[in-house]
Amino acid sequence: MSPVRSILLALAASTVSTRAIPILQPTDVLRLDSDGSFKLSIFNDLHFGEAEDTLWGPEQDAKSVKVMNSVLDSENTTGLVVLNGDLITGENTFLQNSTKYLDAVVAPLVKRRISWASTYGNHDSDFNLSREAIFAEESKYSLSRTKNMVPASDAGVSNYYLPVYGQDPAVPEFLLWFFDSRGGNYFQQKSATGQPVPQPNWVSQSVVDWFTETRSALEKKHKRLVPSVAFVHIPSNAMAAFQATGVDAHREPGIDDDNPLAQQGSASGQGNVSGAVFSYNGQDIPFMQALLDTKGLKAVFSGHDHGDDWCFRWDSKLKGMNLTGNGLDLCFGRHSGYGGYGSWTRGSRQVVLKKGDEDVETWVRLEDGTVSGRVTLNGTYGQDSYAAVTS
Ligand SMILES: *[C@@H]1O[C@H](CO)[C@@H](O)[C@H](O)[C@H]1NC(C)=O
Ligand SMILES: *[C@@H]1O[C@H](CO)[C@@H](O)[C@H](O)[C@H]1NC(C)=O
Ligand SMILES: *[C@@H]1O[C@H](CO)[C@@H](O)[C@H](O)[C@H]1NC(C)=O
Ligand SMILES: *[C@@H]1O[C@H](CO)[C@@H](O)[C@H](O)[C@H]1NC(C)=O
Ligand SMILES: *[C@@H]1O[C@H](CO)[C@@H](O)[C@H](O)[C@H]1NC(C)=O
Ligand SMILES: *[C@@H]1O[C@H](CO)[C@@H](O)[C@H](O)[C@H]1NC(C)=O
Repeated sequence: MSPVRSILLALAASTVSTRAIPILQPTDVLRLDSDGSFKLSIFNDLHFGEAEDTLWGPEQDAKSVKVMNSVLDSENTTGLVVLNGDLITGENTFLQNSTKYLDAVVAPLVKRRISWASTYGNHDSDFNLSREAIFAEESKYSLSRTKNMVPASDAGVSNYYLPVYGQDPAVPEFLLWFFDSRGGNYFQQKSATGQPVPQPNWVSQSVVDWFTETRSALEKKHKRLVPSVAFVHIPSNAMAAFQATGVDAHREPGIDDDNPLAQQGSASGQGNVSGAVFSYNGQDIPFMQALLDTKGLKAVFSGHDHGDDWCFRWDSKLKGMNLTGNGLDLCFGRHSGYGGYGSWTRGSRQVVLKKGDEDVETWVRLEDGTVSGRVTLNGTYGQDSYAAVTS
């Protein structure tokens, strides 16, 4: 071994022993912390690359980087960052360099050697930007854990799962599921009249089929229930149906300013994605059914609606829906980026999973270092009273 290499190895080893974040190799799996917990920080709706030929566009991205750094300074034991959609605002980017913004998004993570996993959002697909190209750019980084496990042409890209291991090398302690809710416009396509060509904005049937098959195969292989959580950019109809019944400021603390919220498939009369009307024909019912059928699935995290960041327990048949919730928790994250609409204080939803513990701890770390909407998704979530969230 060369002296330089041995110094580098020693440095790497000392970094591992003094820092919570290990230096990752591409082949490293996700692992529980020594106390049996696993912590995630979710950044959704970063919207890099807006108005890039102006002064305020790049300034806005610099502010989003500050948000990420501030959150990760406070949440310095996070084990994984989830970029939960709308990493880039594709409407504003140029063909020749649209994926360069991905490098800007992940730069704070690369600097800290924190690995990440993405789902793509509706703004990650547009005439000058494709999710395939973002994925190719992400894949250059050994710290990226984003995968594409569903080759179907209508599936979108970011559909995959990641296992999180404890002591047992054969059976993971948790599974993390990632789904692509598509949306936005197809890359380099124009209609006969010169209009952008919109992509459906819900999780496709091909992905639902892959999910149910893979889930069954994993259940057989592991021979015991492995608890899981899931991430998808656009929320499902259940969140809209719940919001229509009233989000309680104390039982579901969080901002609730996007009302009615925008959901997968768009509700009838509200949906108008880039000029194409997707009336809600229950397009996300198979996806919601598959989520409900997943034993051990604790919670699903979405972004998309920048003005909403509450969690609710889906434990009943909601008005206007045929599916009956079984206690699954559905949560929004906090708008993290300075790009995209809205001026709510930026922040990032934190999630703590603990081995052998049914409960999920979650809160929003705001850019100013404070904590907002800390709740425990336990047996009485939805009945417990918390302080209301004011900003
Ligand atoms: C992309 O190209 C545009 C137009 O030339 C330029 O304004 C912008 O700074 C470039 N962005 C990056 C990230 O290279
Ligand atoms: C990690 O963050 C906590 C507060 O959230 C702080 O007390 C501690 O000093 C930080 N540790 C490092 C190594 O930055
Ligand atoms: C796409 O990029 C090209 C080349 O930079 C640019 O001329 C064009 O305005 C962009 N189109 C859209 C719809 O953003
Ligand atoms: C949808 O949007 C297009 C253009 O943005 C508009 O012309 C059309 O009237 C809208 N349709 C509905 C039903 O809102
Ligand atoms: C509920 O089921 C009934 C009977 O199958 C069907 O007619 C109706 O469209 C469904 N509604 C929704 C919102 O899925
Ligand atoms: C759930 O957590 C809340 C907040 O910590 C607590 O008040 C409540 O008693 C807990 N419920 C159960 C069943 O542990």
